[in-house]
Amino acid sequence: MTLVAFELSGEHPDIPVAEVIGALESEDIEFSVIFRFDQVLIVDIPNANGNANLNLIVNANADMDQVSKLSKQLALTWHIINVLGISDSTLSSIMNMVENVDFDEPVSLTYKVRAKKIKRKSPISSEDIERKIGGVLYNKGYRADLVDPDVRYRAVLTDGKCIFGRVLASVDRGSFEDRKPQNKPFFHPGVLMPRLARSLVNIARCGPGSMILDPYCGTGGILVEAGLMGAVTVGCDVQRKILLGARMNLDFYVPDHFLMFQDAGNMALKDGCIDCVVTDPPYGRSALIQARSLDILMKRSLKEIFRVLRPGGRAVVVSECPVEEWAVSVGFFVVDVYIQRVHRSLTRRITVLDKLQ
Ligand SMILES: C[S@@+](CC[C@H](N)C(=O)[O-])C[C@H]1O[C@@H](n2cnc3c(N)ncnc32)[C@H](O)[C@@H]1O
Repeated sequence: MTLVAFELSGEHPDIPVAEVIGALESEDIEFSVIFRFDQVLIVDIPNANGNANLNLIVNANADMDQVSKLSKQLALTWHIINVLGISDSTLSSIMNMVENVDFDEPVSLTYKVRAKKIKRKSPISSEDIERKIGGVLYNKGYRADLVDPDVRYRAVLTDGKCIFGRVLASVDRGSFEDRKPQNKPFFHPGVLMPRLARSLVNIARCGPGSMILDPYCGTGGILVEAGLMGAVTVGCDVQRKILLGARMNLDFYVPDHFLMFQDAGNMALKDGCIDCVVTDPPYGRSALIQARSLDILMKRSLKEIFRVLRPGGRAVVVSECPVEEWAVSVGFFVVDVYIQRVHRSLTRRITVLDKLQ
């Protein structure tokens, strides 16, 4: 059994978990969820001989391609950790657990230990934990380097447990900040932030080479995130000016894309030609609705999304109103609905829909 922990951001209780699961599934990595704590997901990636993906993930000395690929893909994860031990979160239990870890790195490698208390729930100070774990490593012959260590260890305290392990990769969350809508060549208000857009693309199990459609693409924010992961991006919108803006944004980040001046309720796309859909249709507030009503538009476009999606494909739809009934009536299976409070007067619903095989 090889345990890998994903230390998650606290932006939402469920979306970061769903993102990790979607990304593992899209990479065809065999896994099972073992524990789910507040902001930590632990999966077992079976150490089966012949599972090449797995060896890449868990062997810190092996080719790190798979891990670094996952860390470049995920938006709502902080660190990917090879779990070395799990204990209760008292200092004595943590020390006992760390003492018993079989550290297999050569003693010539330097280390750094960081401790993180989720929601600051533990009474023990992070510095104390770091110092005491450092002491164990020192006694085993390892030397610390706080600036450029060879190995980074992390102790994460959550839900009364301490998860301790070696950091395999960390997510560069700053790159999402660089792509915030105001920094793009074309800006229009009312768009999803890149981190949320990326997480939805992962939940849709979009990977390199997938054909992804956003039938209400607006300025192309969702497609930019998918395109940066190597997906083939297809976007529709009914405003020429907005489509030109989408082209400017996509040209800047991901030159290979297809944009169409099309009604989401009647798209010139063949049946079953799309692998996944992620979309943020107008909510009936400020963004233009080109239809007799929002309800009519949503019903027509869900029908179209179902038609163009391949069997086994997934759609992730952001809305203010519930869409499950309409989705089921056109043939979708509702996988999950995540509720996200944006501000006092706007709560978003993120509905995950599968077109079953
Ligand atoms: C909320 S915005 C999408 C924002 C987008 N996620 C972004 O990153 O810019 C909704 C978009 O739907 C478009 N729209 C409205 N009615 C439409 C229709 N019938 N077919 C396709 N697009 C439509 C609007 O022009 C608008 O750009």
